[in-house]
Amino acid sequence: MSDRANEYILEMRGIDKSFFGNKVLDNVDFSLKRGHVHAIVGGNGAGKSTLMKILTGVYTKDAGTVTVNGADVSFQNYHDANAAGLRMIFQELSVIPTLTVVENIYLNNEKTKGFLNDDKLMESSAKELLDRFQIDIPIHEKVSALSVGYCQLVEIAKALSQDASILVMDEPTASLSDSEVKLLFGIIDNLKEAGVSIVYISHRMNEILTVSDEVTVLRDGKRIITEDSTGLTIDAIIDYMLGSEEKRSFEYHERAAAIGDNPIIEIDGLCVDDLVQDVSFEVKEGEIVGLAGLMGSGRTEILEALFGIRHIQAGTVRVHGADVKIKDVAHAVKSEIMLVPEDRRREGLILSHTLKDNMQIALFGLTKKGMFIDDAKTTEITQKSVRDFNIKTNGIDNPINMLSGGNQQKVVIAKWLNNAPKLLLLDEPTAGIDIGAKGEIIEIIEGYAAKGNGVIVVSSEISELVAMCDRVIVLFGGRKIGELTRNGILNEEVIQHAIQG
Ligand SMILES: Nc1ncnc2c1ncn2[C@@H]1O[C@H](COP(=O)(O)OP(=O)(O)OP(=O)(O)O)[C@@H](O)[C@H]1O
Ligand SMILES: [Mg+2]
Repeated sequence: MSDRANEYILEMRGIDKSFFGNKVLDNVDFSLKRGHVHAIVGGNGAGKSTLMKILTGVYTKDAGTVTVNGADVSFQNYHDANAAGLRMIFQELSVIPTLTVVENIYLNNEKTKGFLNDDKLMESSAKELLDRFQIDIPIHEKVSALSVGYCQLVEIAKALSQDASILVMDEPTASLSDSEVKLLFGIIDNLKEAGVSIVYISHRMNEILTVSDEVTVLRDGKRIITEDSTGLTIDAIIDYMLGSEEKRSFEYHERAAAIGDNPIIEIDGLCVDDLVQDVSFEVKEGEIVGLAGLMGSGRTEILEALFGIRHIQAGTVRVHGADVKIKDVAHAVKSEIMLVPEDRRREGLILSHTLKDNMQIALFGLTKKGMFIDDAKTTEITQKSVRDFNIKTNGIDNPINMLSGGNQQKVVIAKWLNNAPKLLLLDEPTAGIDIGAKGEIIEIIEGYAAKGNGVIVVSSEISELVAMCDRVIVLFGGRKIGELTRNGILNEEVIQHAIQG
């Protein structure tokens, strides 16, 4: 092997890629040193996932070369790349909901005894794998029963179940809370020691500098810089990412309108399955209330119960002073409660449909014209959302799976906000959204509350709660263990500390 191939396990040179005449990668170079973590950073739609999908054979490149261990490669599909020791943790989770945890981990890589699957061996190996990485999930649970954070851990375990020489992690922490992120960083350290080379994609700036040896910044399909992490600051990275684009501050703004005296919703003694016990709180007109907690603290389950997806075992819910029984989604919608779910792929969007059709689904009464749908109105509302949310798309009549991950998330939020519910439930609203767009989304949510509506938001990113919440309910193990008012949530440390239980 040449000296250069000894130093670099992977070299991509002059990579071009267009989708339907739209150039999304333009002459991109990317080199990965053996045993290093190389981060790729860039705004939504910058081309990060596409570059890595070209590496792993999911997409084919239009031009350029890829060398692994000094030899030219051109993988025709993901399976070929796997066989050569490359693995990718996909941004859009690829776990199959109807299969169990262990089935997912060994899917397409079954351990066999003769012609038969060796279930016992797969079980024991899965247990060992999860134990080794201190991931606490019951292996016989169906993945559909797990929250998105746990699905992400299954996805990670799946990638780790086979030895890899190059591991690509595309937004691996988007749904993980801080303690799980720490766990993942421990795993990454172990992998590095074992000689694995890692590509790490994330929108969480503080993670980038902690975990990476080098950073490459992409903007609009072009490589802007590649530098050692030691010489970089978060501010410098953001400057490279945004170029001349306006930077938005990520700070709490005094509310444009005062918070009203009347509660929109009063929740008293809420119990949900075995997961939430005796939780009480209220949301007033114009108020944004955050739910903070680790994975498994009951955050998402509270939102799902209020939206009628989970059974409320005990407790009362009053909306505008009147008792309501939220038995299903129809009840919730009638009470003007809407949920923007975290898992856009499972619940939020129909990926093969167009952007406009995905909007139409949620517009219900708004665009009805007698028995028919008012197509012009739908187009108008969709185009307005594309402008307001700065959604990067080639056209509203293109399928939604042509959008980058972050832009899909914007569509999900826009879609529900157009219905203007009284109470909006948001689960991880900015997971996977770039730093510029995060500020935009927070402003949109604030503007929505300022009209006298209420918002309950769940976020693993504490900085986001600090930036937008008037009050934060602290949860641990399904119980409410504290409540922070605005004066108490001036910095991240306070919340960070509170959620440890
Ligand atoms: N299958 C596809 N068909 C058409 N266009 C696509 C396809 N996949 C990606 N694109 C387009 O390529 C561009 C780059 O997308 P990519 O998913 O690589 O962005 P990204 O940097 O990963 O963004 P994000 O941070 O939002 O995940 C986007 O404009 C996107 O719309
Ligand atoms: Mg992506």
